[in-house]
Amino acid sequence: MRRKIVAGNWKMNTVIQDGLDLAESVKKNAEKGLPENVMLILAPPFTHLAGLKNILPDNIGLAAQNCASEESGAFTGEVSAAMVASSGANYVIIGHSERRLYFKETDPELNKKIKLALASQLSPIFCCGENLHEREKGIHTEVVKKQIELGLSDIPEADFKRIIIAYEPVWAIGTGKTATPDQAQDMHLYIRTQIKEMYGEETAGNTSILYGGSCNPSNARELFANSDVDGGLIGGASLKADDFLAIARSF
Ligand code: PGA
Repeated sequence: MRRKIVAGNWKMNTVIQDGLDLAESVKKNAEKGLPENVMLILAPPFTHLAGLKNILPDNIGLAAQNCASEESGAFTGEVSAAMVASSGANYVIIGHSERRLYFKETDPELNKKIKLALASQLSPIFCCGENLHEREKGIHTEVVKKQIELGLSDIPEADFKRIIIAYEPVWAIGTGKTATPDQAQDMHLYIRTQIKEMYGEETAGNTSILYGGSCNPSNARELFANSDVDGGLIGGASLKADDFLAIARSF
């Protein structure tokens, strides 16, 4: 059975002490119980990873928001996949649209990051999604197909099984606009079909595909009710423990 996952992408928010307080609140609230088979992941800034690892229980995953596309060396300011793993994190977000847009990350570069993350035993959360122009032109499926083909090319099936996909239409991120449940389900099914072509039915069926983009406690229920939507990658609403947990309880 594939896992249901609600992951909080804190982006560049919270200083360390505030991040620790937020993680503590998430932990306390989660102790009140979650629906069966639902797992939480927190993705704080790099500086918070080791501190959060100390306070989070094993059943809450810890993710970095990015890692370098090189293994090590003279790349000032970069943080490698091995460094992320050594902090105690077990996941890493790769290919978030903000990385693609503001830091000009390309599909081949993301493919290198995915491979380095897998080699460091991290589970990548690979983001894909079209922008508004591409949606309006009706080429959204082609865009996502290409992102998956290039970003996830040449990954052995055993490794692919550790990858989580996040479909995040760029026009829905931080805008308050959400994909309709039908738009989300259609794209998630399309992505699952693409994975099926690459790795077969069983692996496709076991891959968690998360929705991201203005997901909140009021719209999560109808998004998560779709058979191919296995949870969410939550930005803004993950900065309030109660909202984040309300989303996780929307299953
Ligand atoms: P949002 O961000 O929930 O604030 O729209 C989602 C994301 O970027 O992962």
